[in-house]
Amino acid sequence: MTSRADLPAWKRLQALAKETGARHMRDMWQPERAAAFSRRAGPLLMDFSKQRIDAPVLGALLALAQDCGLEAAIRALLEGAAVNNTENRPALHTALRLAPDEHLVVDGHDVAGQVQASLARMEGMVARIHSRQWRGYSGKPIRDVVNIGVGGSDLGPFMACQALGEFTGSAAANLRLHFASSIDGTQIADLLRELRPETTLFIVSSKSFTTVDTLSNARTALAWMQAETADTEMLLRNHFIGVSAHPERMTEWGIPPCNQIEFWEWVGGRFSLWSGIGLPVALQLGMAGFRDFLAGARFMDRHFRDTPLPDNLPVLLGLMGVWNATFLDIGAHAVLPYDGRLKHFPSYLTQLEMESNGKSVSRSGDALGYATCPVLWGDVGPNAQHAFYQLLHQGTQAVSCDFIAPVRRYGAHSNGLQRQHQLALANCLAQSRVLMLGDACVEDGESAPGFRRYRGNQPSTTLLLDELNPHALGALLALYEHKVFVMSVLWDINPFDQWGVELGKQIADVTLAALQTQGTAGFDASTEALLRHIHTVGRKDA
Ligand code: F6P
Repeated sequence: MTSRADLPAWKRLQALAKETGARHMRDMWQPERAAAFSRRAGPLLMDFSKQRIDAPVLGALLALAQDCGLEAAIRALLEGAAVNNTENRPALHTALRLAPDEHLVVDGHDVAGQVQASLARMEGMVARIHSRQWRGYSGKPIRDVVNIGVGGSDLGPFMACQALGEFTGSAAANLRLHFASSIDGTQIADLLRELRPETTLFIVSSKSFTTVDTLSNARTALAWMQAETADTEMLLRNHFIGVSAHPERMTEWGIPPCNQIEFWEWVGGRFSLWSGIGLPVALQLGMAGFRDFLAGARFMDRHFRDTPLPDNLPVLLGLMGVWNATFLDIGAHAVLPYDGRLKHFPSYLTQLEMESNGKSVSRSGDALGYATCPVLWGDVGPNAQHAFYQLLHQGTQAVSCDFIAPVRRYGAHSNGLQRQHQLALANCLAQSRVLMLGDACVEDGESAPGFRRYRGNQPSTTLLLDELNPHALGALLALYEHKVFVMSVLWDINPFDQWGVELGKQIADVTLAALQTQGTAGFDASTEALLRHIHTVGRKDA
């Protein structure tokens, strides 16, 4: 099988990277760049003029995309081909946001119909909770909802609920949403100390419904409820909803079928926010708001499907990612939202990007021999300025960045925040500028002593949302989902599996047995020593 690295466009990009690598961005600037390297689609403006590219580089990247069959790959994704080749199934998160009148049949299954039926079920649950008809064991309406999940069953809904708090529907005004994910139980324990069993509802969210982190938190929650009343069946009926691709496992755990929301194996965990996993978002926004969120993602799906590659936002964002990581050898990528509401967006993206593309073998299992997904991290930009930007400006690492900000700040909660919003925007634009130009931003900057010099030449993309609302957030998330897919096609990676996380789970089982039996035999010397230490200190504490 030919490696991507054998393609002529790949070799051309390697040559261009040598030339571009030797140039500083401040010497690449012509005024035309701003228009040539920015695109707008719906609520998003993407400015990639601060990337270390020029017209020949962009041309070669687009040629590589063609040579890798990107257009056919996009069609295959959206039409439900088995793009997840190691698990022989489609990755149809886009089907979750089809319009109600759209149809999609895959392998004889009415996928669009299944999705609409599941949305209708969610709608019914949301209506019962909002109208206070869903009652706890003592007959009182639900006041607190706790989502128990981890990874894709936690990060997406948690991030979206934090981002869209201002859009809480009036029916949800008295509902409080909480999230618990950590396997050690500290988060759930903290919550249970504050909550009242009779008015608390748990959503146990797990695609597989075998994830030990989630099931142990759910067991802790059930035990907490059982301390109130012995009628477990009634507790499960009134206080537990399950969301999973395995209804039989939810039933076995005790969640009655009427409290189950099903989704499907063809939805990857990190792409599942649009399914029943998004129930907390639907509870917060109301179903109309949730549908608006889906519509934003649908807008981006259509843009991705219908727009020629040179104007296609996810394609361009993905090409920039491949250029930086593979050809310019930039192994770190920072995601920097200039809006506190997007605080959890970087964590959500760490899973989306690194679990998808953190791979080193091709679709056919051969070693790739080139760099793929960078290490990705981030934080709210203005806070990060007071934390890790020092490294971005004067450290030895090359880092690429995504700056993200809403242009307008509307809504009841925004009154009086206009000045602060401008401060955030000013900082956003200032930082990307300094990262690009370094001390050439100021007169005489280059005559400063070494410790006050700014190297610049750190590439970035700026994404401006007209405003942060359910529709725009939906479009932004779908943009990144498709970016990840584009990069995977250029790298010849399957982005929809995550075998890398499996071995650790198996070894944790064996290690748990050793902890429970005070054993140490059969481990490597380092782990044995740590186990011995834990046994000794643990005994002293007991
Ligand atoms: O272990 C990784 C992973 O499988 C993720 O891909 C997934 O989002 C997470 O665990 C949670 O899985 P589940 O939804 O099946 O509990």
